[in-house]
Amino acid sequence: MKHIEVKDVSFRYDENSPAVENVSFSIEKGSYTTIIGHNGSGKSTIAKLLIGLLEKEKGEILIDGLPLNLENLMTIRSKMGIVFQNPDNQFIGATVRDDIAFGLENHCVPTEKMDAIIEEYAQKVNMQNFMEHEPTKLSGGQKQRVAIAGVLAMAPEILIFDESTSMLDPQGRDEINRVIRQLHAETEMTLISISHDMEEVTKSDYVIVMDQGHVMMAGKPEEVLLEQDKLVQLKLDAPFSVKLQNELQHLGIHVEKSTNLEGMVEELCQLL
Ligand SMILES: Nc1ncnc2c1ncn2[C@@H]1O[C@H](COP(=O)(O)OP(=O)(O)OP(=O)(O)O)[C@@H](O)[C@H]1O
Ligand SMILES: [Mg+2]
Repeated sequence: MKHIEVKDVSFRYDENSPAVENVSFSIEKGSYTTIIGHNGSGKSTIAKLLIGLLEKEKGEILIDGLPLNLENLMTIRSKMGIVFQNPDNQFIGATVRDDIAFGLENHCVPTEKMDAIIEEYAQKVNMQNFMEHEPTKLSGGQKQRVAIAGVLAMAPEILIFDESTSMLDPQGRDEINRVIRQLHAETEMTLISISHDMEEVTKSDYVIVMDQGHVMMAGKPEEVLLEQDKLVQLKLDAPFSVKLQNELQHLGIHVEKSTNLEGMVEELCQLL
C-alpha cells in the first residue's frame, strides 16, 4: 500500500529557478527509502514539503491517501516525525529530558507513561547520562542523538531523517543506525533517510536520486547503484561493493554484479 504519493510537485523559494520541479515518486507503507543527491539538489526541500513546512507551488502530496492541505495538516503531522539536518533548529526543552518529553506531550502520551519512555529512548541513543543537561550546550553529535531519541520516542508512522547522523562518529552512526533499523523491523514504520552514505543506501529498500531539483533515478538500490555511468554523471560515489567489483574486473576476476558485499565475499571465497 502506498504511504506517500508525490505527484508533479514543484516549489521555489523565490523568483529564482525552482528548488524542486515536477517531482513525482511514491513510497510503500513500511518501506525504507533513501534519498541521495549532491548538495543543493532539493532533498531537504522535499522533506520540508512532505511535512507541510513548505507549501508546494503545484502538484499533489498524499499521505496515507489524505491530500496534504491546511485542513489535513495537523492529522498528517501527528503521523510524522522528522530529524533535521541541523540539530540546532530542533530544540525546545530546557533540558534533554524536557526536550524528549515535549514531543510526547504533543502526542498526548499519558504523564505516568512518559518517564519510562524517555529513559528507554535516551538509553537507545546512549544519552541517559545527560538527562539534566541543556541541549544547546551539547556537542553536534550529542544534539543529533537527543533529536533522534525525541522523534523515535513518539513512534511516528512516517519517520524522516535529513542527514540526521552526519555529525556522529563512525561507531555512533553504526549504533544509531542499528537502533533505527531494529525499530523499523519491529514496527510498520515507513522510514525515509536523506543520506550521503552509499553504504546506508545499499541497506534500504528503495532509493531516489535527485539532481537540480529533479528525480533522476528511482528504484531498488541494486538496480540504481549499478548504473555507474549515471552515478558518475551525477557526481555520486559508488558503494564499496561496486568499487571492489570494478577493481576485481580490472584484475580479470569476474563476480556477479551486486551491491551485497557479504554475497560477494562468499563468491570470492569459492573462487579461491
Ligand atoms: N531558505 C532558502 N531560501 C532560498 N533558497 C533556498 C533555501 N533553502 C534552500 N534553497 C535552495 O534550494 C535548492 C535546494 O536546496 P536543498 O536544501 O533542498 O538541497 P539539499 O539537497 O538538501 O542539499 P544538501 O545536501 O546541501 O543538504 C538549492 O539551490 C538551495 O540554494
Ligand atoms: Mg539538505
